[in-house]
Amino acid sequence: MKAGFPQRRQRRLRRSPITRRLVRETYLSADHLIAPIFVEEELDDFTPIPSMPGISRVPEHALAREITEIARDGVKAVMLFGISHHKDADGTDTMDPGGLMARMVRVAKQAVPEMLVITDNCFCEYTTHGHCGIYRDGAVHNDLTLARLGRQAVVAIEAGADMVAPSAMMDGQVAAIRRALDEAGHPEAPIMAYAAKFASAFYGPFRSAAGCDLAGDRLAYQMDSANGREALLEALLDETEGADLLMVKPALAYLDVLARLRDRTLLPLACYQVGGEYAMIRFAAQAGALDEATTARECLLAMKRAGADLIISYYARRAVRERWLSD
Ligand code: PBG
Ligand code: ZN
Repeated sequence: MKAGFPQRRQRRLRRSPITRRLVRETYLSADHLIAPIFVEEELDDFTPIPSMPGISRVPEHALAREITEIARDGVKAVMLFGISHHKDADGTDTMDPGGLMARMVRVAKQAVPEMLVITDNCFCEYTTHGHCGIYRDGAVHNDLTLARLGRQAVVAIEAGADMVAPSAMMDGQVAAIRRALDEAGHPEAPIMAYAAKFASAFYGPFRSAAGCDLAGDRLAYQMDSANGREALLEALLDETEGADLLMVKPALAYLDVLARLRDRTLLPLACYQVGGEYAMIRFAAQAGALDEATTARECLLAMKRAGADLIISYYARRAVRERWLSD
């Protein structure tokens, strides 16, 4: 072997923890993690979710305590999902200032005012048919749904939400919500758009968790998982409609979309590590095939590396509490 060969030795900087840290490009921080929580009305006790071991439905009466504990763990932002006992054909409970969504927001903000509270704005958790909007003649009616999404967002903000996150995948929903918020006197309320939301099998565990199993599918409104270019178009449309942040969902199987979008927008980017991504790691760990914490951390870091500024994750709470963060 000739002296000086190989000339490039990447291992030089990997030899010690100090040099590895010196050249580390990507970090996880509590500042960038959002914890989704499931809140059920008229529920007596915390109820474990079988499809997502480690995650429970929180009874509404225990929400204030739960938010306090989440804050004590170091989590700074939550996204609220309601499990409704007052479903109807149009999901009216979620547009009611006395309904579950508004109550969750009020209780959460009252318990911990500095906690950033985000609402998922959609109808599927509140409709009897389980679709994400107003269902007419065998299809989700886009424009009828728009006006209601606007009302729902105003109710959320007026209850005290810091941000709304529309996830219904209706055309024009960001513009409709922006207009509704502005007209109601809330020009400063930010919108995080579920901009590229794919029709994904990874939502399976969530649907049983949130009690919104549906008979059909969402292929007529959520995106075809084969389409990357269209995802960019969807996201850039939401930007022009006035979105303040853009989200890609699910995360791990769509990191290409995240990375391509990072090069095309200057807005902050979010991704959602969904229930199925959590379940994959969790069940594999339970079977003894993977170490849960290191695997989850690797996936979260991959999302940051691909371009996510913030991550919505069922691991957010453990990541913060158990110091999976980089520093
Ligand atoms: C509601 C909504 C869903 C998720 C977030 N908001 C379900 C769906 O679209 O079917 C999925 C979250 C997850 O899978 O963890 N539209
Ligand atoms: Zn929905």
